[in-house]
Amino acid sequence: MRILDGGGLDPEIADHMVENVIGIYSLPVGLALNFRVNDRDFLVPMVVEEPSVIAAASNAARLVRTGGGFRAEADDPVMTAQIEVLGVGDHDAAKARLEAATEELLALAQAALPRLVDRGGGARALEVRTLPGRVILHVHVDCRDAMGANLVNIVAEALAERAAHLSGGRRGLRILTNLCDRRCVRVTARVPAEALATSEMDGPAVRDGIAAASRFAEDDPYRAATHNKGIMNGVDAVVIATGNDWRSVEAGAHAFAAIDGRYRPLATWRADPDGGADAELVGQLEMPMAIGTVGGTLHAHEGARLAQRLMGVTDAKTLAMIVGSAGLASNLAALRALATDGILRGHMPLHYRSHAIARDAETGG
Ligand code: MEV
Repeated sequence: MRILDGGGLDPEIADHMVENVIGIYSLPVGLALNFRVNDRDFLVPMVVEEPSVIAAASNAARLVRTGGGFRAEADDPVMTAQIEVLGVGDHDAAKARLEAATEELLALAQAALPRLVDRGGGARALEVRTLPGRVILHVHVDCRDAMGANLVNIVAEALAERAAHLSGGRRGLRILTNLCDRRCVRVTARVPAEALATSEMDGPAVRDGIAAASRFAEDDPYRAATHNKGIMNGVDAVVIATGNDWRSVEAGAHAFAAIDGRYRPLATWRADPDGGADAELVGQLEMPMAIGTVGGTLHAHEGARLAQRLMGVTDAKTLAMIVGSAGLASNLAALRALATDGILRGHMPLHYRSHAIARDAETGG
């Protein structure tokens, strides 16, 4: 634990990570408790500045535990390279030529990633899309336990000239897409209605309030944005704790939320339709999750490596399932508070506590 004394990051290493370094900026790291995912218990490290996020996630995980814990599954860790080809005369003919060259292009991609191929990953499939003025080749790459941005960018650069030549155009952009919708995590939580009760409301009333809050988010993008912010409270905190790129996870989450043209909640809640008056509350989350357990910042950041050790997780798919569970837990905690006492009762005492600490620090009190 001494690793965390200096924020988990050696200043010398920080100086080599980014440019013009003048210091290290710290945030609290805490442990969310009570998480049970696919019948396995986890301590979940969270890095976050907002009071009550860790307590709320822990409380919600305890509720879900009474229903058997989170059930989660993650897609294979497939990221996608985008190669844009411009100035193509006949889009349909270009698409046909690229598709006919699938084997050759996949072999080129494999040759660019020998170490990933050795680890069992590599290019899996091609897809050709056309938009006004451009043809776009997607290359889907299984990145194994890496987040994979660099791997996919290598593929994009390695295939671009050939793709442009085959299409009869000139190459444009070559970069991953952060809308990695082939790398989603899906999490389900079930909570017995009676476990949701508060001193003022019985369990079924709280359950129905949470389901009504979900419908509000499903019907209204203004509410969906806040609903999803509550999910990202849990998601980002674990993504940051484990040394992953939270901007990429955020970009993927919100693009996915709007993928059918309307911004939607990433998680929804219902009373189990087969459960009668005492039906369980059932929550379901689906979102892209581009995170890894090797590579990137992890080489440099001892605190991030410690977080992974505390969790006991070494593979990207399990990490994705825990992050998704933390998101669903945070969402449940927020909706339960909103459907009962309101957010201030739980939130403000902790908020005042951090203000009081800040005042004491200023006054030396
Ligand atoms: C605050 O950080 C998050 C909430 O606004 C989420 C929500 O409204 O669902 C409480």
